Amino acid sequence: MIGVFDSGHGGLTVLRALHQHLPTHDFLYLGDHADAPYGDRRPEEIYELTLAGVSRLFDRGPRLVILACNTASAVALRRLQQTWLEQAWPGRRVLGVLVPMVEAVTGVPWMADVAASRQAGEARTIGIFATSRTVDSGAYPREIAARAPEVKVVQQACPDLVPLIEQGAGHDRLQDAVRRYADALMIRLDGVAPQAVMLGCTHYPLAADLFTTALPAGVEVLSQPDLTAKSLTAYLQRHPQFDRPGRGQVEFMTTGDAARITDLATRFFGKPAHFEKV
Ligand code: DGL
Repeated sequence: MIGVFDSGHGGLTVLRALHQHLPTHDFLYLGDHADAPYGDRRPEEIYELTLAGVSRLFDRGPRLVILACNTASAVALRRLQQTWLEQAWPGRRVLGVLVPMVEAVTGVPWMADVAASRQAGEARTIGIFATSRTVDSGAYPREIAARAPEVKVVQQACPDLVPLIEQGAGHDRLQDAVRRYADALMIRLDGVAPQAVMLGCTHYPLAADLFTTALPAGVEVLSQPDLTAKSLTAYLQRHPQFDRPGRGQVEFMTTGDAARITDLATRFFGKPAHFEKV
């Protein structure tokens, strides 16, 4: 069984892709709805909440947990891996959604000896849309620059998008907001279109079409759920000790009010997702 953690239900966009790519694996999802959203929280809080969520999942048996939340991946993951995981849960692993995106943009495997293997690629510009906290963490530009300094990264925080998507805002309101953020990114880029953009937040795949429409023609919109699923599939091949197929079952846990979140969760997961309160 593979654990999947998110601040709420956004991570269901990632879980949906994981389940499609690995249909015989079992997944256990935990959404920390009681403490969501993480996007505007202080880094220390995000770290503590993520640690508590991952522990809760490990308690139920998974040996591998995916942080499906960009904010948690950008702010807490490295510290968890370096200072806590091995002492608290020896032999277990936590992976995030940042690495697959950085690998896709740079073409450099995460564990590669960057200094030795680096070949300067083509100069490119990549836009990133994310929560304020993910943008402030600087994690995406930092990790991309370490592997591919020729890639120019320009970030745009979209603080209204998570609340609008959660409220089930209609198409027009969402389109206005996405257009506003796409325009703001283009101003930062002096009007020169990037080659691609990343949607660095779990909720934004639900508005991916709006981003495609709002950006200049030809800008590629990278799909984080798909990239994460491909990356996990490759990881399991490289680390068969974590590759334990089951019966394709998916269970959902929440720290919030299970009855209230089922409808919204179903939109994110694409089919009914019945949560149990923990
Ligand atoms: N899951 C968060 C992310 O991907 C978005 C929602 C939140 O702010 O908690 O950054």
